[in-house]
Amino acid sequence: MSKILPLEVFDLLRTLELFNSPSFMKKDLHFVSADEAVKAIKSGDHVHLSSVASAPGILIEAMCRRGEAGELKNVKIHHLHTEGPAPYSDPRFEGIFFHQGFFIGANVRKSVQEGYSDYIPVFLGETQKLYRCGALPCDVVMIQVCPPDKHGYVSLGTSVDATLAAIECAKTVIAVVNRNVPRAWGQAMIPMDLIDIFVEDDTPLVPGHFTEPDEIETAIGKHCAELIEDGSCLQMGIGAIPNAVLAQLGGHRHLGIHTEMFADGVLDLVDKGVIDGSCKVTDKGKIVATFLLGSHKCYDFIDDNPMVAMMDVGYTNDPHIISRNPKMVAINSAVQIDLTGQVCADSIGKKFYSGVGGQIDFVYGASLSQGGKAIIAMPSRTKKGISKIAPVVAEGAGIVTSRAHMHWVVTEYGAADLYGRSMQERAKLLISIAHPDDREALDRAAFERFGPHYHNFSI
Ligand code: COA
Repeated sequence: MSKILPLEVFDLLRTLELFNSPSFMKKDLHFVSADEAVKAIKSGDHVHLSSVASAPGILIEAMCRRGEAGELKNVKIHHLHTEGPAPYSDPRFEGIFFHQGFFIGANVRKSVQEGYSDYIPVFLGETQKLYRCGALPCDVVMIQVCPPDKHGYVSLGTSVDATLAAIECAKTVIAVVNRNVPRAWGQAMIPMDLIDIFVEDDTPLVPGHFTEPDEIETAIGKHCAELIEDGSCLQMGIGAIPNAVLAQLGGHRHLGIHTEMFADGVLDLVDKGVIDGSCKVTDKGKIVATFLLGSHKCYDFIDDNPMVAMMDVGYTNDPHIISRNPKMVAINSAVQIDLTGQVCADSIGKKFYSGVGGQIDFVYGASLSQGGKAIIAMPSRTKKGISKIAPVVAEGAGIVTSRAHMHWVVTEYGAADLYGRSMQERAKLLISIAHPDDREALDRAAFERFGPHYHNFSI
């Protein structure tokens, strides 16, 4: 039987100001407790969690209580990274839960590095495809949604990503109805008919924590800002750099956003009228994203905001869709770049650190866009003083962006465009933006690698 109430009933309730009141929801949505809801999970199941700020904490805790009680075995947990606790990745749940994420967040990093949890390397844009093409089964999906509107729709709020695909493919959909989930538009809106089990909880979404850009990040932000023309459409990846770049864009005009994620830095630029999306060709005037990680102000910003379209990750991260907007600028970061321009971003040597994420989706999409620029921006050195530009990649490191995909590299010492440059030219360009104290050693390494011609040409 449909769980959607007839429209006239919604309208009547709205008139009576009963719409969205707890009593209305309790009566019509058949809420159960979190402990009751997670009984839908069986041993051997694959469970997907809505991600980032929207991880359904109350259901995670209840699922782990079942694990502790010995009621579950070999349950596989999938998601993009989540904020907040991830107790299922704890060694005490070995044999009970096995977390296999699509991105390694801080809360599971130790567990992955110790081998209790694992990581599935996948382009962010294809995380949805894992479910839709059947490469990964999805038995149960646990999500958070806002209360239903008069049409019987709920919003996935800050996490559409691969969660929408998981909902389409799952045998059972469990939703926490939470008034703190923003009523985001776009593909975030789903009919509540798709949901099988409802739980009620109003715990605020987990905010992301950002620090003010330091001197080095600010310098990187300035170099990136110089590469961004008025009318550009921006994507910014994860890490410390994006906010540092946005902070430098106050004097720009007619910028647009087509990205996988955004945070608070975008809000100030919308307020100032810098971001208006007027030069976009696809989704003109709209900010397009698939997940959010910011403060509560950022989550409030997308609430009932027609300027923001929260879309499936298969849409936001499709390189061909990305490329349709002219002057697409993608800014992502790296752990290490070798002298030929190979980019390591998901691991530090053998140690898995984060994920492929959307880096290559956007590097490729921006490079296909008319007047587009794909930028890898990073400090020249780590905080411990290790050069991030290295003669060769560290043993065991994975390449996220290949040499052939590479365009711009930015450090606090400047910007270099590697596209169309030979190996030896790339080495010279990268050394020119390395930390001054590392340049001599890098130059020696390049000479050893490339031979005598290296010192006899200039760029
Ligand atoms: N050698 C050794 N350690 C290094 C290193 C290097 N060359 N480069 C970075 N590190 C260490 C840092 O010291 C830091 O260690 P800590 O966690 O102990 O403090 C850690 O790696 C992270 O480095 P940091 O510079 O603080 O990273 P960040 O938060 O700016 O994120 C990436 C940078 C590359 C990890 C991040 O951008 C990422 O995950 N990218 C991959 C996916 C992607 O681009 N997706 C697009 C958006 S989803």
